[in-house]
Amino acid sequence: MWNEIQQTADYIKNRGIDNPDFGIILGTGLGNLINCIDIKQTIPYAEIPNFPVSTVPGHSGNLIYGAIGDKKVLVLQGRFHYYEGWTMQQATFPVRVMKFLGIENVIISNASGGVNPTFKVGDIMIITDHINMMPDHPLHGKNDERFGPRFVDMHEAYNKKMIATLKKVAKENNIVVKEGVYLALQGPTFETPAEYRMVRLVGADTVGMSTVPEVIVAKHMNMNCLGVSVITDLGIEGKVEEVSHEAVQQAAKGIEKQLITLMEEFIKVY
Ligand code: HPA
Repeated sequence: MWNEIQQTADYIKNRGIDNPDFGIILGTGLGNLINCIDIKQTIPYAEIPNFPVSTVPGHSGNLIYGAIGDKKVLVLQGRFHYYEGWTMQQATFPVRVMKFLGIENVIISNASGGVNPTFKVGDIMIITDHINMMPDHPLHGKNDERFGPRFVDMHEAYNKKMIATLKKVAKENNIVVKEGVYLALQGPTFETPAEYRMVRLVGADTVGMSTVPEVIVAKHMNMNCLGVSVITDLGIEGKVEEVSHEAVQQAAKGIEKQLITLMEEFIKVY
């Protein structure tokens, strides 16, 4: 995998992209976050050697490079999920590439189902920690020490300084943000009411099908992660309703403007 990653990073560097300040991974329905970027380049994933190509509606596949204020950002517009059939290593390949482009700070967004009874649809939650309940692990197998250590410390998977700055930005912009624990399941089924109950019982506030593999790989390479989740449906006892990908996309759209403001202001000041 080392050689492929270097090859891909070299290709991207040769297109004039080097040392961005932030890597950003956009979740379901949040694609318009790119509207606050002064875009310099859009590279379809299909043009990038060794890059996977996303298959989920609402996840278009482009690498976008540009500026927000005086910060350079590299955005993955379209991410890769385990449920699509990618291995964990394939799904997290772009995060490894980001590291070799010089990126140290990663911002990851997603849509999720809220199980904290105080949450409602359209809430924005800063991810303070996660529970990995996916059936596979991106670091499963022989460890390549060039990326990072065999045993990875996860005591601060989500960077405290980034969280503090995001909370400050939210306050200054009058945007209410919740905080909590994200639990990852493989999907692609949404949870049964009993599964939502389990998610709550084991200590999570929200559940989704992404993010955790990317954060694990980022931490393997000692990168700083900020995770933000949009609550698009509820897995709260008595409030569980039919949920669809379309409903998830629509709920995410509803809060997109505020999320864009948050991200934009965060990137400018961090
Ligand atoms: N469960 C899992 N993944 C999700 C959900 C959910 O309720 N909502 C959005 N992504």
